[in-house]
Amino acid sequence: MATSGPLVLVVGGTGRTGKSIVTGLLKHGKFRVAVLTRPVSANKPYIKELAAKGVEIRIGDISTDGHAKLVEILQGVDVLISAIYAGLIHDQRKLFAAAKDVNPNVRVVPDDWATYTPRGIRQLADDKYAIHDYIEELGLPHTYIDVGWWMQITVPGKVPGFELDTAWTFYGDGDKKFAVTDLNHIGDFVARIIEDPRTLNQWVYIWEDELTQAEAWATATRVLGSGWLQETVQVSADELLQRATEFRAKYRENPDLTSLYGLAVAEYAYSIHIRGDNNIATAKAAGALDARELYPDIRVSTFEEFLRRVHGKREENS
Ligand SMILES: NC(=O)c1ccc[n+]([C@@H]2O[C@H](COP(=O)([O-])OP(=O)(O)OC[C@H]3O[C@@H](n4cnc5c(N)ncnc54)[C@H](OP(=O)(O)O)[C@@H]3O)[C@@H](O)[C@H]2O)c1
Repeated sequence: MATSGPLVLVVGGTGRTGKSIVTGLLKHGKFRVAVLTRPVSANKPYIKELAAKGVEIRIGDISTDGHAKLVEILQGVDVLISAIYAGLIHDQRKLFAAAKDVNPNVRVVPDDWATYTPRGIRQLADDKYAIHDYIEELGLPHTYIDVGWWMQITVPGKVPGFELDTAWTFYGDGDKKFAVTDLNHIGDFVARIIEDPRTLNQWVYIWEDELTQAEAWATATRVLGSGWLQETVQVSADELLQRATEFRAKYRENPDLTSLYGLAVAEYAYSIHIRGDNNIATAKAAGALDARELYPDIRVSTFEEFLRRVHGKREENS
């Protein structure tokens, strides 16, 4: 790891997105890297691995720590990246307020890392947009980054460690294109984005492939056979809308993490597969910069290449 250069603190640097970001930053070699972890996680083997690579470990909890402690945690930080657990979006306010008090020129990247949805459609996206508004009120230099849908959860249970049960559902006609990214490639883009003056106060969209759900499932069948299809279920657009409406009512009544999770799953599916929001043309029309245009030298994979890679299958033409 670099011993000079800007200091980048990754809050949530031990999570799924965070690990990809930290790996990308270390590979890039131009940053000093620090990771925030909670006291309960400080002795985990992964923290020891990071420390052995020269990553500075800072201990704290953005939910329970007060302003003074957060100010201490943020000392010396030039770039602050948040990739925390999605249930903590609102807690980032304290983090960014403290960041401004430490260094009003710190460049912040809040916890987005998701699909594109316009405002007013998806609760979790609106919660993240409220954080954008707060960052702009504070006047902090920023970059917002979305990544589309992870390739790892695009077809049901087909990637070890990513057995998300909601991925077993085929939504509506499955005919809306949506952008996907290999979770493990996010960090390669992030390392370039945060040093790039063109992305200052901009929104960048990272993506590797774009396909419909019907195409994704056909790809998985080509690569892995069709046995898994028997366990899948179909949900129509009307059923999904009904499900989202019910979860929204529950969330209004009791905005806890369980109701947010149910609502998030239904609204993600509705936005991606029925409305067709999460495609690169729509995101660019809404103002996103295309990471593949900014960094054409970063190698990307198609969804089929990704599936063959994780399952050790040869390319069809090789
Ligand atoms: N695009 C997609 O397909 C997709 C899929 C899933 C998630 N996402 C989005 O990606 C973002 C990150 O989610 P993820 O699933 O990658 O995260 P995750 O794996 O749930 O990571 C959680 C991280 O948050 C940290 N954390 C938890 N509580 C904390 C606290 N109180 N104070 C400080 N740190 C705390 C944990 O740190 P320690 O355990 O080290 O303490 C851990 O590093 C979210 O915004 C989510 O919506 C996108």
